[in-house]
Amino acid sequence: MDMTRIHFNEKSRTFHLWNDQISYIMKVAKSGHLAQLYFGRRVREREDYDHLLEARRRSVAVTAMDEDPDLSLEHIRQEYPVYGTGDMRMPALAVCLPDGSGLLDLKYKDHRIEKGKKKPEGLPATYVERDEEACTLIVRLADDLAGIEVELHYTIFADVPAIARHAVISCAAGRARVDQAMSLSLDLPDMDFDMVELTGAWSRERHVKTRPLQEGVQGIYSLRGCSGHNFNPFLALKRKNCDEYQGEIYGFSLIYSGNFMARADVDAYHTTRVMLGIHPQNFSWELEAGASFTTPEAVMVYSDQGQNGMSQAYHRLYGLRLARGKYRDRVRPILVNNWEATYFDFDEEKLLALAREGKELGIELFVLDDGWFRNRNDDRGGLGDWEIDHKKLPGGLKGFGEKLDKLGLSFGLWIEPEMVNAGTKLFEEHPEWVLHQPGRRASQGRHQYVLDYSCPDVVEYIYDKLTAALDGSRVSYIKWDMNRSMSEAFSCTTGSEGQGSVMHRYILGVYRLYEKLIRRYPDILFESCASGGGRFDPGMLYYAPQCWTSDDTDAAERIKIQYGTSFVYPISSMGAHVSAVPNHQMNRITPLSTRGNVACFGAFGYELNLNRLTDEEKEAVKEQIRFVKTYRKVLQFGAFYRLKSPFEGNEAIWMTVSEDRKLALVGYYRMLQEINAPYRRVRLAGLDPDCLYHVSGLEIDCYGDELMNAGLIASDSSCGEVGDGDGDFVSRIYILEAVEQTGGAK
Ligand code: DGJ
Repeated sequence: MDMTRIHFNEKSRTFHLWNDQISYIMKVAKSGHLAQLYFGRRVREREDYDHLLEARRRSVAVTAMDEDPDLSLEHIRQEYPVYGTGDMRMPALAVCLPDGSGLLDLKYKDHRIEKGKKKPEGLPATYVERDEEACTLIVRLADDLAGIEVELHYTIFADVPAIARHAVISCAAGRARVDQAMSLSLDLPDMDFDMVELTGAWSRERHVKTRPLQEGVQGIYSLRGCSGHNFNPFLALKRKNCDEYQGEIYGFSLIYSGNFMARADVDAYHTTRVMLGIHPQNFSWELEAGASFTTPEAVMVYSDQGQNGMSQAYHRLYGLRLARGKYRDRVRPILVNNWEATYFDFDEEKLLALAREGKELGIELFVLDDGWFRNRNDDRGGLGDWEIDHKKLPGGLKGFGEKLDKLGLSFGLWIEPEMVNAGTKLFEEHPEWVLHQPGRRASQGRHQYVLDYSCPDVVEYIYDKLTAALDGSRVSYIKWDMNRSMSEAFSCTTGSEGQGSVMHRYILGVYRLYEKLIRRYPDILFESCASGGGRFDPGMLYYAPQCWTSDDTDAAERIKIQYGTSFVYPISSMGAHVSAVPNHQMNRITPLSTRGNVACFGAFGYELNLNRLTDEEKEAVKEQIRFVKTYRKVLQFGAFYRLKSPFEGNEAIWMTVSEDRKLALVGYYRMLQEINAPYRRVRLAGLDPDCLYHVSGLEIDCYGDELMNAGLIASDSSCGEVGDGDGDFVSRIYILEAVEQTGGAK
């Protein structure tokens, strides 16, 4: 049965987009403006929903509209607001017209409804594999005087409570400069929400922050040229009673990797305007007659199943219909990365010793990180030329790849293609390819400069360099790193009118290079990275199905980072490695078991000198690898539930459940040991209530309904037995396996 519909009622001029979970309703007002009426849980279809318009005359309202004298744009909820006709709130679109005017008034022209979903050119976006998976509505609005047209695209998916949106701005006649074009603007009728965002900094990315909405502006943004460590292009608005398990929540996520703005503005009447899109600072786009500008795509999710419901919708959509390629649905190879094992100090023999040990322990992929190319013995040189260092790798990448192949390991390689160091041939020969303004200081970050990816010649040059190194090399995995923010974002290769578009065109250049490499090497698994998790965003996921989650490999810190990341991003997308102790970032010592128990909820690997492990540790690592190989399908692709937040106490708990609900794994983590602690029960989620599960470590089997309602008894020796605790940073994985599936509860 087709559960997705877009219906237009000719008489009331109302659009209703729905699937079995959500409804989204808009209306063309008498005045021709497109008004937002409802977004939320599915409601029944009816002729009109005009009562939801709430257009009431208010004192001091600007209502000089002949078509509808009662309608004040400041007092209705709109779909794509502009400045200049009475709405005094922040607009979604701002333009500058040839006469200097920035006034706009967009009115409905026409619309079309299409099966499936078309892909915007050159931009990452969600997609469908069959037309029945989604329907798309395209509403055309126009300002005839300005010659500006806007197409609003809405795709509703059949089995995810999500709507993907973007806008296409075009100039029908004359010229115009687009100064701001949001991907999404949504007016919600009240402000009774808490805003959730993912925030942090290098090595503590995507911590969950929640704050009540207030009148005025609250928002997050990036002006770094990448999505950044500090904020993620995502925000959610949740009702006061919403927790992980239940309650209403709206998620807003931008499929983009550059500068962004995400904000929630509450006006005097407590309408909340959510906006998401490219940050207008340092952005402008010149439009000639007939040309158009396409915004990145934004995805709105509604769930009444709490935060987990929202996250599972994103996991499903982003895991299956944003990520692409051979590895989208495949369990990810277990890797060892030499970065924290050797840093720059390696030669081939050292690498092979690590590889041999890895193979012994069960590892599948060896990743050669930074330092394999000439003049790269520290982070001061080498980036840009991409010539192999034959002192370190006498047989080049090809020879090294063959040696790994003989050992039975796949070969992975680190690159950082957007950067250049002073002293390289590239820097000497093409100083104009570095983002900087002649005459002004060009700032360095990690001793490097940013290449001008807004210039197609630069992208082509790097493509040629990389393919020369990669062709015939057996590389089957690439870690694409990016270790500094953009600062003096000025392009020497474009004129004055193009400068406002440089930061966006840079990102389009990055996407183009990814696309070219993916086409040439369809079997390569890409992992994105930006000093850890500085570009962990949906845009990157379209090209690289996994991302290095954070440079912080400390297990206790990683629990927070992975917990926050899971708000939007699938577990399969989080690169997570077991590293050495004392930890290189935190200097903290955590048990090897906990390091494994945290990293196994992710794209699993090791990042330490395996040769230095004791025999006992090697046995433990072998066992971890065996465990991950057995369960990685459900660990990486199961339905993931957060049960207890590390931001709220001493423990964190999460779990994953297989599609048939016959297998579930629960990860339990406790930071500090407690003495004589209270009893612990953990109410699980997502199980089959009628299924009897064997729970590892428990003597008695339990039914799903018991485990979800009475809870899993997780008390341990710290409860009531003084002096016999397990110590700090302990963890456990409970394995729940179905022993019988009955027709009804016993
Ligand atoms: C930053 C990354 O996050 C690290 O994992 C490592 O690849 C270094 N760069 C190498 O320079």
